Amino acid sequence: MGFREYRVGSILFGVALSTSMMITMFMPSLDISSVSSTSVALQKQLTYGKNNGFDYGDLFLQGHDKPIKVILKKDPKTGAAMDETAAYVFKAGTSFPSGLVHDHILGDDVQALSVSVGKIDQANEEQGGVFLVRASVKGGVETPYIEFATATRGWSSQATLAAAEETILSGSGKTMFIREGCWWCHTLLPEQTHDWQSFGRPPLLGDFNGESPTTFGSDRKAPDLLHVGSRNSSKEWMMLHFFNPRLVQPHSIMPRYDYLWGGKDAKGNDIDLAKWDEEFKAYRAGDRVYPPEVPEYTADSEIRMLIDYVLDLK
Ligand code: HEC
Repeated sequence: MGFREYRVGSILFGVALSTSMMITMFMPSLDISSVSSTSVALQKQLTYGKNNGFDYGDLFLQGHDKPIKVILKKDPKTGAAMDETAAYVFKAGTSFPSGLVHDHILGDDVQALSVSVGKIDQANEEQGGVFLVRASVKGGVETPYIEFATATRGWSSQATLAAAEETILSGSGKTMFIREGCWWCHTLLPEQTHDWQSFGRPPLLGDFNGESPTTFGSDRKAPDLLHVGSRNSSKEWMMLHFFNPRLVQPHSIMPRYDYLWGGKDAKGNDIDLAKWDEEFKAYRAGDRVYPPEVPEYTADSEIRMLIDYVLDLK
């Protein structure tokens, strides 16, 4: 009797072990990079550039070596008005994302269109240039592709930056997000559950082509941020919340990021954190009617990069 139970157990163990060995041996032959990029993946590659995180291009994780996203309302070359368009400026020498460097990252159809129509094979890192994400519709099927606007429209990096309605440093901001460990608490991965209702659409497989690293996060102690810019687009709120989350959420466990202001406000004055703390304590104790003001940040501060990144998560 006892022997029979052992036998059933060993057979089940054998089945489990061989199944897992099969998975280990045959899964790698599934070519995940053969999945076509979605337009989200193309936008992310052009926004974030090469790797974010430890890399020769940015040894101390200061947000260097990143493209600049701009919003255009006029053609940088002719000055003619056009529909609001996002463009991605790579100054000379800025590292390219893998989709522009390797042939097998974008997926076959996206790669073919990006070369034939988008002329991305004419771009190189030394000279940089301006890129767009476009889509071609054929027979009801939409295929996104990258256009090298410097070749196709004659847009130079300089003219494009000068014509920009808005400049968004979210490539550098993603480096801040990684460096500061926001992912210890926040995910960027709504799940296929009721998450839909609060945090928006879960991502698709093709949304991640060429992104390195992805910032899924592993544990959720705080709201998912994949689409946070769609539900909260207030720069002012972000400013207060990053300076001291307790200003807007009295019981928040989120750390302060006041040091990302870099010590100076937009007028060039020193920021006196000790004085700010005193005043904030007095406010919490009920001895002041209003909390102390949060200083404006400078245009090249790390907090500017981080806020640009967070608001660009749509
Ligand atoms: C210790 C955990 C923790 C860390 C680390 C952390 N947060 Fe948070 N965060 C929270 C919690 C909890 C909330 C919800 C309460 C609140 O608003 O403060 C929150 C809220 C937010 C919100 C508002 C979310 C919404 O749904 O409107 C944003 C944006 C945000 N955090 C960004 C960041 C960024 C960027 C970083 C890294 C610089 C970061 N957080 C680091 C815990 C954390």
